[in-house]
Amino acid sequence: MSENSDVKYGRPSAAPRLAGESDESRKPVTVPEIRARKGGLPLTMVTAYDATFARMLDDAGVEMLLVGDSLGMVVQGNSDTLGVTVEDIVYHTRAVTRGTRYAHVIGDMPFLSYQVTPEEAVRNAGRILAEGRAHAVKLEGGATIAPTIRRIVDAGIPVMAHVGLTPQSVHALGGFRVQGRDDEAAEKIFADALAVEAAGAYALVLEGVPGELAARITAAVSIPTIGIGAGVDCDGQVLVCYDLLGMTADLRPKFVKRYDDGHARVVEATRTFRDEVRQRQFPGAEHTFGMRKRPVPVTGTG
Ligand code: KIV
Repeated sequence: MSENSDVKYGRPSAAPRLAGESDESRKPVTVPEIRARKGGLPLTMVTAYDATFARMLDDAGVEMLLVGDSLGMVVQGNSDTLGVTVEDIVYHTRAVTRGTRYAHVIGDMPFLSYQVTPEEAVRNAGRILAEGRAHAVKLEGGATIAPTIRRIVDAGIPVMAHVGLTPQSVHALGGFRVQGRDDEAAEKIFADALAVEAAGAYALVLEGVPGELAARITAAVSIPTIGIGAGVDCDGQVLVCYDLLGMTADLRPKFVKRYDDGHARVVEATRTFRDEVRQRQFPGAEHTFGMRKRPVPVTGTG
């Protein structure tokens, strides 16, 4: 035992259990279990980009954590997702998988990591699993990308597909706009959904489409649909964690429900820290280390 073992400097490695949460009843979520939830209890997926958030979201019991290329916007501060690299996704996925005990972790394939050739797509998808330790990858696109999905699936890598508003095509779409609002556009998205299902995708994100279209696709495909801005009839829902927690000050898209006011709470807590430092209230005695007590020398007259 070290001489300083009575002094705790670092953090405990095991987080306390939450009331009502029994770890014993939880098992790692697998692809077959996600597929089996089609038409059953709705699935939940939340984005995560680091180990600390992954641990909190996993403790909350969501089935899936997505290391989304949305990190280009909410973590890196860009106005779109186009600058995200495979290295970025591998790095953040590795952090998320280190913080996760039960959730199924999906690494997003960034722009140009799968569109150029199917060979590059398989290699990049493989890196996200081998180096990032993800359980699956997600990629955007419908009928035109379906042959690539087939190649990745044939390599033993589960693929979550993503149709409708596909943010990597932001410039082709003319902005982040709801897709499939007229019959022709809706039919194309419907055909895309059938194509990615036929190519072997195990689940399908439907983003930014009318609720009626999402309901029709959900009824037509045999794989779970995970909606974002796609209404209540999908087999599950996904939100960006910072949106869910209300961390973004000025971004309030219609499809987001803020379950907390994280921005205001973080600002308030940090302001309190600043004020307590200025008033020398922090650190208190309970946060301060003392000198080791020396034995008092015994002196006597003999
Ligand atoms: O990158 C991302 O976070 C996503 C979700 C919004 C589905 O693709």
